[in-house]
Amino acid sequence: MKKNLGKKTIMSVYPVLIIGTYDENGKANAMNAAWGGQTDVDCIAIALSDHKTTDNLKLNKEFTVSFGTVDTELISDYFGVVSGRKVDKIEKSGVHVIKSENINAPLFEEYKLTLECKVISLENEVLIGEVINTVADESILDLDGKVSISKLNPIVYDASDHTYKKLGDVVGHAFNDGLKLKN
Ligand SMILES: Cc1cc2nc3c(=O)[nH]c(=O)nc-3n(C[C@H](O)[C@H](O)[C@H](O)COP(=O)(O)O)c2cc1C
Repeated sequence: MKKNLGKKTIMSVYPVLIIGTYDENGKANAMNAAWGGQTDVDCIAIALSDHKTTDNLKLNKEFTVSFGTVDTELISDYFGVVSGRKVDKIEKSGVHVIKSENINAPLFEEYKLTLECKVISLENEVLIGEVINTVADESILDLDGKVSISKLNPIVYDASDHTYKKLGDVVGHAFNDGLKLKN
């Protein structure tokens, strides 16, 4: 028996994206955005309403996107409940800003995996960005120098119950397991 539940944000488990930008005075800001993701190796799309972050994006057209982790859960949520228009969130959270070598946008010491991006467009409350580089802390690289998601320990935002959850066990292998039914 199936039930109709109407429109719900139920199929909505997203990475916790922390957007880093500078304002007109070079002051860093960070916001939490869940409604987006990387759509290709060099493209990211995020649904954004009106924020300090969008003010900054219109000015500088460059931004970073870091991934919220178990270790950064509290500050990541803080970045989503307070606006940089009212409070210096960087000072209050105590995160350490590092200047990017490639773009005019802040990296944060506490966030171990970050995409460096340039604005392609910001229209109809959708930010489309070009990903130009990935910055990873050495502590999350495996022996082959690849990013280890297990070492990163990212969290996801579950919009169905407004919780953050961590990733679980491997249950299968993409592009492989389905092949068993192919022939
Ligand atoms: C879990 C979570 C996810 C969020 N996702 C988004 C989002 O995808 N897009 C958006 O516009 N705002 C989102 N927000 C709200 C902004 O983060 C919030 O309005 C923030 O204060 C904006 O910061 P700023 O004004 O300093 O840029 C989210 C907040 C939380 C807590």
